[in-house]
Amino acid sequence: MSFWKREKSYVYYRFFHEAITDKFDFFYRLATRQGDLPPYSLRNLVGGAKGFKEVGPWFLNEFQRLDLFRQNCRILDVGCGCGRLAFAFSTDPNLRKLNVRYVGMDIDRKSVHWCHRRISSKNDLFQFYHADLRNRSYNPAGKYPARDFRFPHPDRSFDLIILTSVFTHLLEEDLRHYLLEMFRLLDTDGRIYASFFTYRSRQEAIHGTGRHPLKFPFYHDHFASSSDLCSENAVAYEESFLLELFSSIGFRLCAGVMYGTQDAYLLGKQRG
Ligand SMILES: C[S@@+](CC[C@H](N)C(=O)[O-])C[C@H]1O[C@@H](n2cnc3c(N)ncnc32)[C@H](O)[C@@H]1O
Repeated sequence: MSFWKREKSYVYYRFFHEAITDKFDFFYRLATRQGDLPPYSLRNLVGGAKGFKEVGPWFLNEFQRLDLFRQNCRILDVGCGCGRLAFAFSTDPNLRKLNVRYVGMDIDRKSVHWCHRRISSKNDLFQFYHADLRNRSYNPAGKYPARDFRFPHPDRSFDLIILTSVFTHLLEEDLRHYLLEMFRLLDTDGRIYASFFTYRSRQEAIHGTGRHPLKFPFYHDHFASSSDLCSENAVAYEESFLLELFSSIGFRLCAGVMYGTQDAYLLGKQRG
């Protein structure tokens, strides 16, 4: 495979987008009165620059449908990116009334910086922090391995923990460790909303399920990757492996799996 055809990590394209695309995008945002959007180079890291504004309201509706927002609800959004969800949540009057408090965490420094400047500055119930963790796709030069990271919050600090399109970039050790940390951080009646790419057989992983936009030809038993060069670009897990892992940690499914372009799981703590 030639150098140019190799699949690169997402941040590889960043320098080009910062130097060129962001300049055009700046004028586009001005002309279309969308100056509140993050620059293209940041939007591009959270699953494509187009449709940024639609995704946040979609999740807001979905979480309302699932009855996940309660009075004084404490939310942790792990891998919040440049605030695709936080932007919609922080401007929603109902969440204001419910006195929802939100903490966003990400390993991409510039995304977190943008969220500080553009979201926390307008709504002090929304806070963000950066952790310099390694991910070959998003932060290849990160100082610390994600599998050793202790989230800086006391046990049972959150009622709702969100991981949208984050476990789709984490390999098994990081996934296990994050799930254990989420179990520690979740309050007794809290919920975790997490999305994954899942498959049920080797065939499905390699040839695609039809519902996911990607195929995962690099198969390693209970996980598979879309690329052999940068496996964290997109990772899929075998469904039965995930269900066993959830249960061994002490989670239960609080709703049927929501299959879609990514498959969403609603988890709570096992009772008794
Ligand atoms: C596809 S984006 C999704 C962003 C956001 N959750 C959303 O739905 O808009 C994946 C995000 O996960 C972050 N990420 C990757 N590895 C991470 C890790 N170990 N811990 C926390 N965030 C991570 C990336 O920096 C990126 O912002």
